[in-house]
Amino acid sequence: MTNLKGKIEEYKKKFAEESARVRDEKGLAELRNEFLGRKKGCLTSLFDEMKGLSAAEKPGAGLLINAFKDHIQEKLTLLEGGLPGRGRAARSIDLTLPGRSLYWGAPHPVVLFQQEIENIFMGMGFAIEDGPEIETDYYNFEALNFPPHHPARDSWDTLYITDNLLLRTHTSPVQIRVMEKKKPPIRIIIPGRVYRRETTDPTHLPMFYQVEGLVVDAGITFAHLKGTLEYFLRTMFGEKLKVRFRPSFFPFTEPSAEVDIECIVCGQKDKSCRVCGGTGWKEILGAGMVDPQVFKNVNIDPEKYSGWAFGMGIDRTAMLSYQIPEMRFFYENDLRFLRQFNLK
Ligand code: DAH
Repeated sequence: MTNLKGKIEEYKKKFAEESARVRDEKGLAELRNEFLGRKKGCLTSLFDEMKGLSAAEKPGAGLLINAFKDHIQEKLTLLEGGLPGRGRAARSIDLTLPGRSLYWGAPHPVVLFQQEIENIFMGMGFAIEDGPEIETDYYNFEALNFPPHHPARDSWDTLYITDNLLLRTHTSPVQIRVMEKKKPPIRIIIPGRVYRRETTDPTHLPMFYQVEGLVVDAGITFAHLKGTLEYFLRTMFGEKLKVRFRPSFFPFTEPSAEVDIECIVCGQKDKSCRVCGGTGWKEILGAGMVDPQVFKNVNIDPEKYSGWAFGMGIDRTAMLSYQIPEMRFFYENDLRFLRQFNLK
């Protein structure tokens, strides 16, 4: 019996030494086999020892050997938990938990707003067109009835690449490009990026987005312009929205109008509203009947056809709609701002 106890103590010491050297699964398996293996394991040799004991000693010896076995098993489990990649935690993953989703990115708020505009116009049978951001003087100005040195050009100053090439100041040149290729009936919108010589402030940037609209057919009148734009704005901002048309001037339309909507921030109630300056109205787009000279420039007969057009700032209108005080927020790439528009 003393012999057995001594042997157990010796095995325990040996186990402690060898287990300190285990670094991987293979070492662990070898250690387990050395101590608990059926054939030549230490445990088996202890049971062999028991055979030579008297019947009275056997139960006590059995208890000692089993305690030794428990001790080894417990240490092996602890050892296994400490091995790289095989911790208890690794094996106790709850597979029923929903996975942690990665942030995949999402459409930009200006793009989302543009899509809303496109959907409304597509619902009315409009097609979508686009054109180049680097334009010639002819498309950006001349064909739209801005002769060289016309004072109206001052409001559309831009970055010139050469005397003749410039960054387009509006989406209107695409009207010309489309009418050169397609004949009436034409019913299109043209969303896109435009550029101006602007000093940056909360509502002005040298780059922004516009959407242009153009309808050309026989018998088109100002009533069609009014009806379509009112329908669009009320779908966008609310059925009861107040809309007003004010006379204005654009070289490429005659007559021309500027369109205001009621201030959706103060509801025309706050004389000190910072958004509408207390006027109750927000100018939102320019529009008018296509000037006969523009039709002549693209070989469409103004005696036979008439049309209307409009141009609206997408980011400006999105600011109003989402009530964003700074246009710059759209372009600072701050995810805390951008993610708010894609809450799913
Ligand atoms: N192109 C004008 C601008 O950038 C907006 C505009 C006004 C477009 C009247 C039109 C229009 O098509 O008919 O300020």
